Amino acid sequence: MRQFKCLSGSPPRVVAGSHRPLPLLLLPLLLAGVCIDCYKPVIIVHGIFDGPKQFRNLSKFIKEAHPGTEVTVIDLYDNLASLQPLWKQVPDFRKASMAIMQKAPDGVHLLCFSQGGLLCRALLSTTPNHNVHTFISLSSPLAGQYGDTDCLQKVFHNVLKKNVHYLCYNKLGQKVSICDYWNDPHYRPSYLQHNIFLPLLNGERAHRDMKAWRENFLRIKKLVLIGGPDDGVITPWQSSHFGFYDSNESVVEMQNQEFYGNDTFGLKTLDARGDVLMCLHSGVKHTTWHSNFTVFTSCMEKWLT
Ligand SMILES: *[C@@H]1O[C@H](CO)[C@@H](O)[C@H](O)[C@H]1NC(C)=O
Ligand SMILES: *[C@@H]1O[C@H](CO)[C@@H](O)[C@H](O)[C@H]1NC(C)=O
Ligand SMILES: *[C@@H]1O[C@H](CO)[C@@H](O)[C@H](O)[C@H]1NC(C)=O
Ligand SMILES: *[C@@H]1O[C@H](CO)[C@@H](O)[C@H](O)[C@H]1NC(C)=O
Repeated sequence: MRQFKCLSGSPPRVVAGSHRPLPLLLLPLLLAGVCIDCYKPVIIVHGIFDGPKQFRNLSKFIKEAHPGTEVTVIDLYDNLASLQPLWKQVPDFRKASMAIMQKAPDGVHLLCFSQGGLLCRALLSTTPNHNVHTFISLSSPLAGQYGDTDCLQKVFHNVLKKNVHYLCYNKLGQKVSICDYWNDPHYRPSYLQHNIFLPLLNGERAHRDMKAWRENFLRIKKLVLIGGPDDGVITPWQSSHFGFYDSNESVVEMQNQEFYGNDTFGLKTLDARGDVLMCLHSGVKHTTWHSNFTVFTSCMEKWLT
């Protein structure tokens, strides 16, 4: 794993149509509409209680840094609809992304915020023919969520985090998206048995598609994990970097997680390949990650080529 903090700017790119004289050889290709040095399309998946509107600034950052990039924020399950069960949302996000991937022979980038990061993981693991190059996870509870936050209060009025497991770990609860990644470290057996989403994605509960899901996930070339201690929503914030609480609520880092050690879904392989990049920023609140220009230049720009 490599840590990077302040890699601002990316090497200048020459885009077809700029002033550098083109070798004659390339002319026929250009005339045939072949793109010589294009940026890959970027697909953005929003988080809970938001939608495309919240990603206007980020889309602008991308297009200004890399002119000509096709940026699509998938307009599905916006706002309150984001509470729908994740396994219901995944096929629809898959369909919308595949339409973009099929028109991009060189692949696409997937940039997913918060709950969207989990949707994207599920999409990557269950789609054999995806062509996602870089997967950027922007402050996403990748190892689960366990914390009293405003966001939680909107859904479970006045229920304390220690009691949420009663609501979440059953058939009805699993129909609410948050419950699909609710990870109560004090009710591990219940989480493993009744949570129908995260334990499968993490391979914490064995299932017959594990090997295939792992292979699908490993088609990505780079995984960029962005998060930080002042997030205020993702709890523990280290979940954005695949860390999580043990039964004493002490945070166990990614490399010491069992799903990492057993390489159940490909994370260890990806890391050994040098393709897991962690980006950490203090001073960024959850809902401002995607409009912070410093975060964009230091954690995203370089990878979205
Ligand atoms: C976009 O940036 C402007 C200026 O920095 C800010 O006022 C606005 O709240 C941002 N919009 C979003 C959706 O974050
Ligand atoms: C990891 O492997 C050990 C030993 O084979 C096994 O006991 C454990 O359940 C596995 N855990 C996960 C999350 O796969
Ligand atoms: C939790 O804390 C207790 C007491 O400090 C200790 O004995 C135990 O080993 C800890 N458990 C874990 C999983 O670290
Ligand atoms: C943007 O991110 C930087 C960290 O790189 C942080 O210091 C700053 O406070 C953030 N700005 C806002 C408006 O969140």
